[in-house]
Amino acid sequence: MVEFPVFPPGFVFGAATASYQIEGAAREDGRGPSIWDTYSHTPGRTDGGDTGDVACDHYHRYREDVALLRELGVDSYRFSIAWSRILPEGAGTVNPKGLDFYSRLVDELLEAGIEPAATLYHWDLPQALEDRGGWRIRETAERFGEYTAVVAEHLADRVPRWITLNEPWCSAFLGYSVGRHAPGAQEGRGALAAAHHLLVGHGLAMKALRAAGVREAGITLNLDRNVPAAPTDADRAAVVRADTQHNLVWTEPILAGRYPATEEETWGELITGQDFRREGDLDLISQPLDFLGINYYRPIVVADAPHREPDPALRVATDNRYAEGQYPDVRRTAMGWPVVPESFTDLLTALKDAYGDALPPVHITENGSAEHDTVEPDGAVRDADRVEYLRTHLAALRSAMDAGVDVRGYYVWSLLDNFEWALGYAKRFGIVRVDYDTLERTPKESYRWYQALIAAHRA
Ligand code: NOJ
Repeated sequence: MVEFPVFPPGFVFGAATASYQIEGAAREDGRGPSIWDTYSHTPGRTDGGDTGDVACDHYHRYREDVALLRELGVDSYRFSIAWSRILPEGAGTVNPKGLDFYSRLVDELLEAGIEPAATLYHWDLPQALEDRGGWRIRETAERFGEYTAVVAEHLADRVPRWITLNEPWCSAFLGYSVGRHAPGAQEGRGALAAAHHLLVGHGLAMKALRAAGVREAGITLNLDRNVPAAPTDADRAAVVRADTQHNLVWTEPILAGRYPATEEETWGELITGQDFRREGDLDLISQPLDFLGINYYRPIVVADAPHREPDPALRVATDNRYAEGQYPDVRRTAMGWPVVPESFTDLLTALKDAYGDALPPVHITENGSAEHDTVEPDGAVRDADRVEYLRTHLAALRSAMDAGVDVRGYYVWSLLDNFEWALGYAKRFGIVRVDYDTLERTPKESYRWYQALIAAHRA
């Protein structure tokens, strides 16, 4: 008998993907270019020059992918909507073919007995909006609210769960400060303005979703479990800064209606001199959520790194992070990420301790691992490391629930191997292998394991 962690009745098992990572069909049916088209087509930006032009060709193969989800037995499928399919210029004229694609996908899911969970923004900003300033300017947040209203008008009756933004930290800081994500900017203040406008965009989208009468609306954050490299005052202070720029910048406005008390010690004059916040923004941003989505992969070891301070872009996003040589005894995934399931429990219980009843029910909207899968001569894909990762992280999640955190669902990242952003196709997170030459899908051992876990809950 295989041992599985056991979850309460009604717990949602799911799988997740995102538009640019799987769809392909980048120039089809009126889709406008997004910042990820531009970025991935710029030489030197992605590993191997990989782009999402074809990706998993999900746009044409979505029926096959829904069949895989049905066979897997999931309750829910989390996908994202490409803004530039709906509004090729980001605003203005609606592209009916774009809406039609998601409408067909949703119908296919419902017919398979799977609840759709739609993310409105998984990083693929229409390029036309970036050309006007992107998330650095407030106008983009307003356009996001309008786009949400268009999508919700067409899909609200059939899509019960909505996520406004996926991992806004990546959009703001990897995109506008580190420069490792589209649009590839390296700015200090621009990234902080982007973070704020993403929050405002979230607030406007929440309003549009409420107006459309959706059942559940929330946001997905990649909250970090930051641990000090050494028990020194300097490293502890670095953890405070890391917590501020990764977690509190989102959770304080959204869950508590305030800006982080530690923002000045983290960003200095970059934040004290800001002019992008307006009266009333906090009320907009802190509208009640039906759930908080959390993506979790690994803990982060933080060391003080004052030598980076003079560069405002680096100061905003990357200083004090990623001390090497930590967790010497734990396994690392193909991403080089340490596998420490306990830190998943700790992240969730610490969040509950910090926010108490202000913490809404949680959905784990992503968790999974990239591994070096082996394809056997008979075609079978062995990924015992991924099975172990999933098993131990689901057990860690169960522990957090036992400790009082109200978790309602779990979405494995990802259904398919896909375009891992700047790292291209070499990093495989799927529980289904994709052969990028033939686009053939092959369920891995982890798919069978997850299928059995879900089935055990139905028995
Ligand atoms: C989080 C992102 O939402 C997703 O797009 C990405 O592929 C995974 N993390 C893995 O890095």
